Amino acid sequence: MLTFEHVSKIYNGENYAVKNLSFEIDRGEFIVFIGPSGCGKTTTMKMINRLIDPTEGVITIDGHDAQVQDAVQLRRDIGYVIQQIGLFPHMSIQENVTLVPKLMNWSKEKRKERAKELLALVDMEEEFLARYPNELSGGQQQRVGVLRALAADPPLILMDEPFGALDPITRDTLQDEFKKLQQRIGKTIIFVTHDMDEALKLADRIVMLREGEIVQMGTPDEILSAPANAFVEDFIGKDRLLQSRATVQTVEQLMNITPATITETATTSKAVQVMREKRVDALLVTNEYGTLKGYVDIEMIESHRKQSENISDIHLTTLHTVKKDAYVRDSVSRILKLGVSYVPVVDDDMRLVGILTRASLVDLVYDSIWGDEGAAADEQEAVLEETIL
Ligand SMILES: Nc1ncnc2c1ncn2[C@@H]1O[C@H](COP(=O)(O)OP(=O)(O)OP(=O)(O)O)[C@@H](O)[C@H]1O
Ligand SMILES: [Mg+2]
Repeated sequence: MLTFEHVSKIYNGENYAVKNLSFEIDRGEFIVFIGPSGCGKTTTMKMINRLIDPTEGVITIDGHDAQVQDAVQLRRDIGYVIQQIGLFPHMSIQENVTLVPKLMNWSKEKRKERAKELLALVDMEEEFLARYPNELSGGQQQRVGVLRALAADPPLILMDEPFGALDPITRDTLQDEFKKLQQRIGKTIIFVTHDMDEALKLADRIVMLREGEIVQMGTPDEILSAPANAFVEDFIGKDRLLQSRATVQTVEQLMNITPATITETATTSKAVQVMREKRVDALLVTNEYGTLKGYVDIEMIESHRKQSENISDIHLTTLHTVKKDAYVRDSVSRILKLGVSYVPVVDDDMRLVGILTRASLVDLVYDSIWGDEGAAADEQEAVLEETIL
């Protein structure tokens, strides 16, 4: 789909922004470029859609030399999310999202339809279409930036640190959404970050750059299990390397399979009874098919008891969940950062299959980092938070 053959970009006759890059990317791959600031990530991206011309070497897209194609046409065929979101402040969300379709002369109706369809992909309401970028949160703006790149349905999308400015939890949610979206719509994606967690989580293959050159290219597992040199090891970080070598890999292997639950059709008095029996003050609520609906605690029940008898009448609190086949290494920091004592574990259909407790994660990470001799549990947790978070 995309190849680089001995590509270099040289400024002022002597400064290499990227040096002798050669690689091949297949259709449908999710490729993440990672490396320190100034290592040539943005330059590499911009050479693909010809915002920058290479000094040496050849880039081909679908077998055709990018350099001999019409640059404007090429750019319309490649989605691009720039490093700073880049929404136009004076255009509505609909206009922003459908910029390329407009350049391609799609009809007004077709553009509106497309904008609606795209917003639905990221669970944003139709009412956002008429708003302006400054009326959106940072996370919503980043979503719109991503949608704009998808609008004309290009097979190849370039994304330069698209989630850079987000808080860790919003970022995590967007990463999850985006990975799902990519798998569903089957795009080839080139994604730039300098966040190793993001790279490990999203990439089919990672390209590690340093001072304009490729240091290592491989799947997350290949890079974790055989870092090419000390630079890669440092970049991955000791804790991640140790975690990756620990025997527990997926959430399913570590979860507790007997959470305290109740179905939404049960009565509130039944819930109280279950809480007493299990000695807990909250229950996870599922429907008759085992799908997680939220959670209910004793206070919510107390404040509701007079008006209603059934759990289904209570407005349930929703929860952050984790997928059972997610890697523990991708979930650890999110769960510890959330500061909750456990998160529900679900399958692909949102059916509750267990819970992952903070304590089990802390034990696991502690064991894999420091071995099992040493400090008391509280101390372990404090050290852990300082070191990893
Ligand atoms: N127009 C230019 N003239 C001269 N040097 C440039 C020019 N543009 C970029 N560079 C240099 O090329 C190198 C690579 O820049 P690039 O923007 O690709 O880095 P990056 O990996 O995207 O960094 P960051 O993570 O900070 O975004 C840097 O050393 C930069 O200073
Ligand atoms: Mg950059």
